[in-house]
Amino acid sequence: MAEHVLLIGGGGREHAIARALEGSEARRASSSRTESDDGEVDLYACAGNRNPGIARLATEFETLETTNPKAVREYAEAVGATLAVVGPEAPLEAGVVDELEDAGIYAFGPKAEEARIETDKAFQRRFMAEHDVPGCPDFETFDDVDAACDYIDEYDGDLAIKPAGLTGGKGVKVIGDQVTAEEGKAYVSESDYDRIVLEERLVGEEFTVQAFVADGEVRTAPAVQDHKRAYEGDEGPNTGGMGSYSDAAFELPFMTESDYEEAVSIMEATVEALEGYRGVLYGQFMLTAEGPKVIEFNARFGDPEAMNTLPVLETEFLEVLTAARDGEKLPELEFASQATVCKYAVPEGYPTDPKAGAKVQADEESVARVARATENSSGEQSDPRESAGDALLYYASVDERDDGIYTTTSRAVAVVGVADSITAAEEIAEDALEVAGEEGLHVRHDIGKPDLVQQRIDHVEELRGER
Ligand code: AMP
Ligand code: GLY
Repeated sequence: MAEHVLLIGGGGREHAIARALEGSEARRASSSRTESDDGEVDLYACAGNRNPGIARLATEFETLETTNPKAVREYAEAVGATLAVVGPEAPLEAGVVDELEDAGIYAFGPKAEEARIETDKAFQRRFMAEHDVPGCPDFETFDDVDAACDYIDEYDGDLAIKPAGLTGGKGVKVIGDQVTAEEGKAYVSESDYDRIVLEERLVGEEFTVQAFVADGEVRTAPAVQDHKRAYEGDEGPNTGGMGSYSDAAFELPFMTESDYEEAVSIMEATVEALEGYRGVLYGQFMLTAEGPKVIEFNARFGDPEAMNTLPVLETEFLEVLTAARDGEKLPELEFASQATVCKYAVPEGYPTDPKAGAKVQADEESVARVARATENSSGEQSDPRESAGDALLYYASVDERDDGIYTTTSRAVAVVGVADSITAAEEIAEDALEVAGEEGLHVRHDIGKPDLVQQRIDHVEELRGER
């Protein structure tokens, strides 16, 4: 019998999850699916926005408030869900997994209490310190504005100012980078955040490691580098992430294999201390002169990082989920040795003053044809089926209405290039953007370009005293 899988969330990350449930992109590119595969998953989806990409893959798509656990449960019961996958953090914080579990439905995601590793940054830092998890920067937590401001005055060095609760990745201000100490104090005083974490500013290059976790087992994916800042050259405000890349190896070009392994061991220590955690654990690291340090943990796939990782996952995603649910050993994960570059097109003004309501023209089929055309015109690949390239389009926070697809105030569509090298993947992503159309949207074209990747390599070499 087919599994009835309920996918919760309507962004680019969830579109990538929906595709992975249909069968991994890499596998689909190299072999055609057999008839018998088709019966394995009946996908049902719910989100606040109608994501056209997910809606097309799903048997049914319901628009509902995903932070309302009762509403999600009702829908899950109505469609006879045998499994659920939660994409975003807000439903985790709201207790959707707890509610589904009460209904006897296994959800791949942590319960609200365990999701605090993401949803409460003060808890997260204290947890790391109490359990001696390596890679934790110096930190203090505050619920009093004056005490926090005094600490900023007295601290010898720069600090990162972090609201303890969820802010969609946009709440952190780093002194000495984005703000001065005075601006930092004004930010703390004027904000209505009731709890603040102040921690040592980490200097280095950021990277993400995502892991599938169940019953104490940890299966990690290749590292990814996201780009938080809104504008090219890492300028402007922090966003949810403007785009990201991964390499054909597990580590990124500015990392050594042992940097990657050190990050994995930090994640394993965290999972051991968390006891009973299930779902995706996302470790965000800063590769400093002293090695990887933890910037934060998330209790879910990254967005955009899921769009780098899931297209190259060759192991059946469904197999991971059913093993976790059934208490079986998680399968070892296979990834295609291919690089990926993801670029988001976001509404003009995002994230501070985003203009919603623009019509989105992009369609999946025309983007999918891009890579093949690229390969053919270069003449280097004789057999397009063996071409190293794929171009993918993911819909994010857009809304499908009767007369078309419209932007909301958040990230709109993402393109992903998959190829043998980061450079080739980047070129495919750019070709895909041209076909998808960027009118009224903003893109960071520098993501994944050789210059920017080289800057990351130079930065780490400099920190390590190798230049
Ligand atoms: P977060 O919401 O914790 O992911 O933080 C958002 C961004 O703020 C990160 O991607 C980093 O660029 C930056 N950041 C957070 N914590 C630190 C830190 N301790 N030192 C330097 N930058 C940081
Ligand atoms: N890309 C950052 C996040 O998903 O939190």
